[in-house]
Amino acid sequence: MPPVRACIFDAYGTLFDIAAPARRVAALPVGAPIAPIWEAFAESWRRKQLEYTWLRAITGRHADFRTVTEDALGWSFEAHGIAPEPALRDALMALYEAPDAFPEVAGMLDALAAAGVATAILSNGTPAMLGSAVAAAGIGARLGAILSVEAVGVFKPAPEVYRLGTAAFGLQAGQIAFVSANGWDAAGAADFGFRTIWVNRRGAPAERLPGRPAAVIRDLAGLPAILDGWRGAP
Ligand code: LAC
Repeated sequence: MPPVRACIFDAYGTLFDIAAPARRVAALPVGAPIAPIWEAFAESWRRKQLEYTWLRAITGRHADFRTVTEDALGWSFEAHGIAPEPALRDALMALYEAPDAFPEVAGMLDALAAAGVATAILSNGTPAMLGSAVAAAGIGARLGAILSVEAVGVFKPAPEVYRLGTAAFGLQAGQIAFVSANGWDAAGAADFGFRTIWVNRRGAPAERLPGRPAAVIRDLAGLPAILDGWRGAP
């Protein structure tokens, strides 16, 4: 195995808590309609958002992640019998631009920076969404490149997307660690050839897909130690 020289992160679900927008809005007056069901609502919004990314990729009908996210939100309102009030929609979408980072993210990025590991985000998000999320979480200075699928106009797990990562660093896939909390993304990245770490935050079953992660962790706190082992002799 070649030594790992760089580490690429998925964004939503991995660095950023995608349940946070529904959870936070549910606590506000405008969020009253989703308050009793915010967890199920967040799940269905995310599931439909991902379905739309996959379907748009398969059919060659790309639309950016903001559009897909808003389309999935409209579907979820209707599925849950919730009136699509513009104020509620806007509050949820606004928090998607500034989701909470998971608590261990900043310390983990500091540890990687101290170890001299180059980092990047590679995400379905648009450059604008990712830029605002990183800024809101205060982790911009701790990250290297922000790579968006908008550069290739197709969503994960299309291999063109993962190729953005090898191109950005000028490295072979096997010299790059790829970290995702989305099992299907970890599978796609592993199948592409990255040294992949699946952050299995909720103890989900392993995906039955081509591409197996090289390591599985429960949260990002354990990542620096794994990368230490993969970087080989200095
Ligand atoms: C992303 C999605 C998969 O950030 O969460 O690319």
